[in-house]
Amino acid sequence: MLPEDILETIANECELKVWPKEDIPVPRKVLEKEIQDVDGVLTLLTENIDAELIEKAPKLKIISNMAVGYNNIDVEEATKKGVLVTNTPGILTETTADLTFALLMMTARRLEEASQFLRQGKWKTWSPMLLTGQDIYGATIGIIGMGRIGEAVAKRAKGFDMKILYYNRSPKPDVEEKYAAQFCELEDLLAESDYVCILTPYTPETHNLIGKRELTLMKKTGILINTARGGIVDEKALYEALVNQEIYAAGLDVFEEEPIPLDHPLLKLPNCITLPHIGSATIKTRRGMAQLAAENLLQRLKGGQPPHCVNPHVLKLESKK
Ligand code: DGY
Repeated sequence: MLPEDILETIANECELKVWPKEDIPVPRKVLEKEIQDVDGVLTLLTENIDAELIEKAPKLKIISNMAVGYNNIDVEEATKKGVLVTNTPGILTETTADLTFALLMMTARRLEEASQFLRQGKWKTWSPMLLTGQDIYGATIGIIGMGRIGEAVAKRAKGFDMKILYYNRSPKPDVEEKYAAQFCELEDLLAESDYVCILTPYTPETHNLIGKRELTLMKKTGILINTARGGIVDEKALYEALVNQEIYAAGLDVFEEEPIPLDHPLLKLPNCITLPHIGSATIKTRRGMAQLAAENLLQRLKGGQPPHCVNPHVLKLESKK
């Protein structure tokens, strides 16, 4: 649920209905019923706002997604129907980069295993090769997707004296200059990096971007970190690569299915660190995201221009009418 004061801000401006349950996403049937009569919705990444749902909402003017990613929304369909889609970029950049780096460090230095080892009473003595992992400083990091978060990860990597490679739709000369980052092909990035960090949006083009072939290209000591969207990685191929020690480890904050089923094979592997999609989860950042999502929503409902439009084309068409 959104913070009370932010809900109040919205309620002061319009009639508001809130899904009250913290631990269950809005059921499809409820969404189908409620969306029929509203001018705007504030959604989370758990809501799948597809063409069928948009079709049921003749009055809808805005879908305000409280996330930077918006792969849960059929933007093309929304645009056709004149529905503005907004997201919450910027505000979560540094927090998500922090978590990406924390996950990288946790995976490289086997922190979860080490903590469990101590708590389970297995720590008998200091031993030379006990719980040894991989070095981070001076290693090569490959960033897939050099957007805001990719750049913020590069900034952290520079502090660790890492060599920075990146793969992006187009080169970023400013990032190259600031962080001595080198643009390269995906194959080269996979082959040369000690850490491969996925920070690209999830689109049909990036679906299973990292599959069997790509994992085979990685170093045997390589570590895969995904804090973007689960569907970018083929999880079956990743499981095989981890079990067969074709790569060293993986750190995942996101999964094809969320929550990941508890009997999922990846959860059985000690070299796979798994977190429950908490990239942006600090109090300050989540409040900021909620505030921004509320602002996007209210601006649109009041006839203004929300700060973060995914499909500003809708506004252009309206202004021509
Ligand atoms: C997003 O914003 O897309 C994240 O996955 C949640 O912060």
